[in-house]
Amino acid sequence: MKILGIETSCDETGVGIVQDGHKLLANEVATSMDIHAEYGGVVPEIAARSHIEFMMPTLKKALKTASCTWGDIDGIAITYGAGLGGSLLVGVLTARTLAITHNKPLYAINHVEAHVYANFLTSTSLPDYQLAKKQPTFPLLAVIVSGGHSQLALFEDHFTYKLLGQTQDDAIGEAFDKVAKIIGLPYPGGPSVSLAAKNGNANTYKFPKAKLEHPYDFSFSGLKTAVLRTSQQIAGVDISFPSQQIASRLSEGQKADIAASFEKTAIETVVDKAVLAFNQFSPASVVIAGGVAANQELRKQLRERLPINIEYTDPKLCTDNGAMVATLGFFKAMHHSATADPYTLDISPNLSM
Ligand code: KG4
Ligand code: ZN
Repeated sequence: MKILGIETSCDETGVGIVQDGHKLLANEVATSMDIHAEYGGVVPEIAARSHIEFMMPTLKKALKTASCTWGDIDGIAITYGAGLGGSLLVGVLTARTLAITHNKPLYAINHVEAHVYANFLTSTSLPDYQLAKKQPTFPLLAVIVSGGHSQLALFEDHFTYKLLGQTQDDAIGEAFDKVAKIIGLPYPGGPSVSLAAKNGNANTYKFPKAKLEHPYDFSFSGLKTAVLRTSQQIAGVDISFPSQQIASRLSEGQKADIAASFEKTAIETVVDKAVLAFNQFSPASVVIAGGVAANQELRKQLRERLPINIEYTDPKLCTDNGAMVATLGFFKAMHHSATADPYTLDISPNLSM
């Protein structure tokens, strides 16, 4: 069974084609990130307009890469939430139209759940993908870390899970993006902070880890503020100084030390909670999901601290893409989940897990 997945919740136009929920046949991603970088963050209207421009070429490319025609496709999976309204609308209307005109079943997909399913891809005909060797098994602990989410979820089985905890304020990816802005590194902050951190000493600054009432909840806004205050101190200015001008007063070495100290604290916070959950629930598998799952420090720390052989999917499948959407679509089809009505499926920008 071949499922075509479409993802447009933020600034990536993703179309993936996946066979039987494990074989990656195509994963085409076009992004408007370069334009957003000029503004230091995603501009929703630009993201939506870019999806309109990228959608048909990306679809065509994916079908070509997978050597498929529409006749070979058994179903269409579409992210309908959570995400930016305008961006979701382009994807959902495209998927609805395709489902009607090609007479295919339509599966409505939760973006955050889809991130988890990137870990179910285990083989591919494409070059340059490093995938897990086998699919994760249940019970499954999912560490979900993206630009919009920081969550720990325990899956008893497909579609049966409970949320152990989530962020009370900023998501971890958001914290990376904001810290990058403070120290003058380009958007998106995750990759640029990580790169700068490689040249820094992670023990230079001691940043706080939030203490919360519920052990599996997260909070990253205090950490972000601590980075801002430390940067102001190093720059020799007070809190009335315009925050966007702080970076010009920091040396490359200071930026690297701040980046490394921040990354260490942010990642340790996630790993501490993952280890705690592992010890409490003894899952058979642990997976990491979402854009921040591309982070090498997270991968390293989890490997070191979890007494389990943890397999990681390719970083290209951690950030937003259509293949993860297609993979979850397959499992929906297998579990006879209700299909979406192609005439009425609406977007759900605030959809939660
Ligand atoms: O999952 P994603 O592509 O979009 C959302 O669903 O939010 O995640 C994007 C987030 C951004 O905040 C970006 O800075 C972060 O993932 N990110 C990273 C890395 N690559 C992307 N964070 C840390 N390290 C990375 N290597
Ligand atoms: Zn995402």
